[in-house]
Amino acid sequence: MTKQRDPAKLKQKLLDLAKELPFFKLIGYEVVDFGPGWSTTQIRFRPELANPNGTVHGGVIASLIDAGTTHAMLTTDQFQMVRDTKGIMTTVDLRVKYLRPLDEGVMTCETKIPHIGKRISHAQSVVTNEAGKAIAIGDATLMIIAGKG
Ligand SMILES: CC(C)(COP(=O)(O)OP(=O)(O)OC[C@H]1O[C@@H](n2cnc3c(N)ncnc32)[C@H](O)[C@@H]1OP(=O)(O)O)[C@@H](O)C(=O)NCCC(=O)NCCS
Repeated sequence: MTKQRDPAKLKQKLLDLAKELPFFKLIGYEVVDFGPGWSTTQIRFRPELANPNGTVHGGVIASLIDAGTTHAMLTTDQFQMVRDTKGIMTTVDLRVKYLRPLDEGVMTCETKIPHIGKRISHAQSVVTNEAGKAIAIGDATLMIIAGKG
């Protein structure tokens, strides 16, 4: 049976958790807002995140998309039901197309999950610069794995 939850409390708990995760702190990952099946997330460019060309490292953009995809899944009924069994969610495929370099300002990732299955979900992300131009597009597949709890 699905546990009754307060959506506002759950969201706040997840926002607080995102602020504490060491990897998110390292790359400056921030959650602007999120809900079931969507998220808006950001990272501000700083020189430590650059590749030898002086532009943001492709892995940082991939991490922004990967984490944004996770936030778009966290409050879905499908994930919360499996979470009750101590199940997990994991990315099984992530593809990124890099369209423009970025060497200043904030990059914003808008993620939507057009299909949320009981186990497999497909997400799409667009990352834009401060001028609103797309710098990358992402396509991720996530799997929800039931626990034994
Ligand atoms: C690979 C790449 C140069 C191919 O570009 P393209 O589509 O053949 O060429 P375009 O001339 O249409 O350029 C696309 C955009 O990139 C910009 N760009 C291309 N080369 C650039 C360079 N050397 N320095 C700064 N900007 C550059 C262009 O100004 C254009 O942006 P705009 O439309 O806002 O003016 C471009 O897609 C790109 O730079 N992608 C990002 C690569 C990246 O940062 N990867 C992650 C880190 S390894």
